[in-house]
Amino acid sequence: MNKISVVGLGPGHPDYILPKALSIINESDIIIAGKRNLESIDVSRKITFIVGNNLSQMIEFIKENRESKKVSVVVSGDTGFYSMLRYLKKHFGAEELDVITGISSMQYMFARIGQSWEDAYLGSLHGRENEFVKKAKEYDKVGLLTDNKWTPSKIASELLINGINEKNMYVGENLSYENERITKGSIEQFAEKKEYHICVVVISNE
Ligand SMILES: C[S@@+](CC[C@H](N)C(=O)[O-])C[C@H]1O[C@@H](n2cnc3c(N)ncnc32)[C@H](O)[C@@H]1O
Repeated sequence: MNKISVVGLGPGHPDYILPKALSIINESDIIIAGKRNLESIDVSRKITFIVGNNLSQMIEFIKENRESKKVSVVVSGDTGFYSMLRYLKKHFGAEELDVITGISSMQYMFARIGQSWEDAYLGSLHGRENEFVKKAKEYDKVGLLTDNKWTPSKIASELLINGINEKNMYVGENLSYENERITKGSIEQFAEKKEYHICVVVISNE
């Protein structure tokens, strides 16, 4: 039985896809990925499955095809940081998966703002809750994945309500793409309501 490859794509731009990830993708017959990730790779001669709110169908699709075809599940960023890997491991044993790392959007963001991240608390508000206010009090640096509910403005407002206003906030939007935008400001500045596309937030004393 073929192993199922789980491939980290990096933040999105093809320049940040690791050569190893590209060779696994090239060797695959089937690519399973979200729409944004599929746009970063050449899938013209592949069978594709677009991931949305259809995770149980995805598992069935993998089970039906993996015997005769090489299947890769391509996830954004790194496989080990809030990716589909955890869900896949509920359905397949570790020995059935071949996991290929990628550059996380978080790792990329810290590099772009020129800060180290070994001393940071890293978490996610993407479809989940997080004690980020408590963490911002405990740590000099906090890195957060966001979503449409927990936008940078909402994060900043929550920090202000809880008396945190001395730190710097960095917002990295569309990281690695042509329209990448990284902004730095006070927490108060970001509390103003604004629309954002996909972003990573860093709250830092630096
Ligand atoms: C489901 S999580 C996946 C995280 C991924 N495994 C990683 O290591 O970057 C999706 C969240 O990652 C962040 N993200 C991923 N790619 C991004 C990018 N190119 N620019 C900004 N944020 C990004 C956003 O916060 C997004 O809501």
